[in-house]
Amino acid sequence: MEGTVPQDLREWLHRVAEAGELAVVDAEVDWDQEMAAITYLWARRPGAPALLFRRVRGYRDRASCLWNLLGSSLRRMAITLGAPLDSTALDLVRHARQLFRRKIPPVWVDPQQAPVYENQRVGEEVDVLSLPVPKHWPRDGGRYGGTFDVVLTRDPEAGWVNVGTYRMMVHDRNHVGLYVSPGKDARLHIERAWQRGEAVEVVACWGVPPAWLAVSSQGFPKTESELDYIGGVLGRPLELVPGRTTSLPVPARAEVALEGVIRPGATRLEGPFGEFTGYYGRPEDQAFLVEVTALHHRHRPILTNALMADYPSNEQAVLFAVARSARIWEDLERLGVPGIRGVWAHPAAAGGFGVTVVSLEQRYAGHAPQVLALAAQCPGGAYYTKWVIAVDEDVDPSDTDQVLWALSTRCNPAEDIDILRQTWSTWLDPTQNPPEERPYGSKALINACKEHRYLHQFAPRTRLARSVYERVRSRWAELGLGGQPPSVVSLEEDR
Ligand SMILES: Cc1cc2nc3c(=O)[nH]c(=O)nc-3n(C[C@H](O)[C@H](O)[C@H](O)COP(=O)(O)O)c2cc1C
Repeated sequence: MEGTVPQDLREWLHRVAEAGELAVVDAEVDWDQEMAAITYLWARRPGAPALLFRRVRGYRDRASCLWNLLGSSLRRMAITLGAPLDSTALDLVRHARQLFRRKIPPVWVDPQQAPVYENQRVGEEVDVLSLPVPKHWPRDGGRYGGTFDVVLTRDPEAGWVNVGTYRMMVHDRNHVGLYVSPGKDARLHIERAWQRGEAVEVVACWGVPPAWLAVSSQGFPKTESELDYIGGVLGRPLELVPGRTTSLPVPARAEVALEGVIRPGATRLEGPFGEFTGYYGRPEDQAFLVEVTALHHRHRPILTNALMADYPSNEQAVLFAVARSARIWEDLERLGVPGIRGVWAHPAAAGGFGVTVVSLEQRYAGHAPQVLALAAQCPGGAYYTKWVIAVDEDVDPSDTDQVLWALSTRCNPAEDIDILRQTWSTWLDPTQNPPEERPYGSKALINACKEHRYLHQFAPRTRLARSVYERVRSRWAELGLGGQPPSVVSLEEDR
């Protein structure tokens, strides 16, 4: 089934199970921290399978909870994007770039056939706690239903629909918070609508396939509908049905969908929450308040959950490493910057937000500093990132050992580090104190490329001669060494 992207969560789960990438827990577990704790421990092993809890205390088997969907697994990211299972990190980034270039507009389908409308509750009947919504961390301000979610809002002026991934804390049976970072699209929609004295409609899906998140969790152009980009990733139009209580569309194959409204000025205290940084973010503070007007779900729905923690137990890890790198690489190419060989937003760096490494073939004076400045500030990469590192084309940016080697042998800190100040960041950055100082950040741009001015005099790297490497490769079995020799990025060409 390589080559096609799973269209909904159940198809994705089926494929993941077939690949031996799913663990199922049938013992009863508690929604209060226990599922999150099991997930945290389980996911300490890099590449650990996805985790499906089928019985949650107080909910019997009415609904399941899925965690560690992608986690630190390149294999599950490959399934998500329809790429070969043995894809390398950079293969996946290149693959994601291709998918992100496509736009396929959504289609309307018959609401009678829409799985999401198998169960519908409207108005007084709505109770979001009829679902096993978990509490993640001991100091969290409440239970969070939308973590691995997609949230639809409409631009009040241009009318296009944004899809973002933003967390939602449950306040009571029909009120949930919506936390959106500064500068993110839903916040811009809400702020603009409020200036006009208008309410904002919201549709939030709490059970979704990871392919939708590949788009919703990334910065796409702020003037276009991300529904079209989700279609592009799926390779087929996203199926929609009209909402029952809002004028927004509802994705027909979501497991769970809430419809709601944010009235002008409506906020309520929310948080704290254990964040992508591995810390509780900001202290409890005001967040948008959504009044839930309808709750729809499939029979025995599957809620998707994103644990935020230190790596590798961070749900954002590989998703961001692949999707964010693809966005940054695409931005650089669209700007006309030549010679980019790879981009890697390291998954261990605050869920892929903290460090961006770009590999390039230096073609002219100032090329590497130009790449650093643009990678640091382009739409796909500007938010949060603290460290932007440029390496030469013979360094694989996804290989941490190689990057550390380049930092240690090609970077002269006194000359090669620049700082950007007052940059786009978040209230969740634990290094900006006191918290009232937020959400401004700063970035270090580190040039770990060979010094361009002395490129031709730079000490030659010790590299194997191509002919010797090929000979040794062909003799590997004869030498009795077992397995295969590793591939090598850079070889000395024979004269
Ligand atoms: C699992 C997960 C949870 C996230 N939670 C939030 C959140 O609660 N608030 C937020 O502003 N961004 C959150 N993000 C990051 C945003 O989804 C990301 O910045 C994205 O670009 C937002 O979409 P937009 O660019 O359309 O605004 C989360 C990302 C992931 C993968």
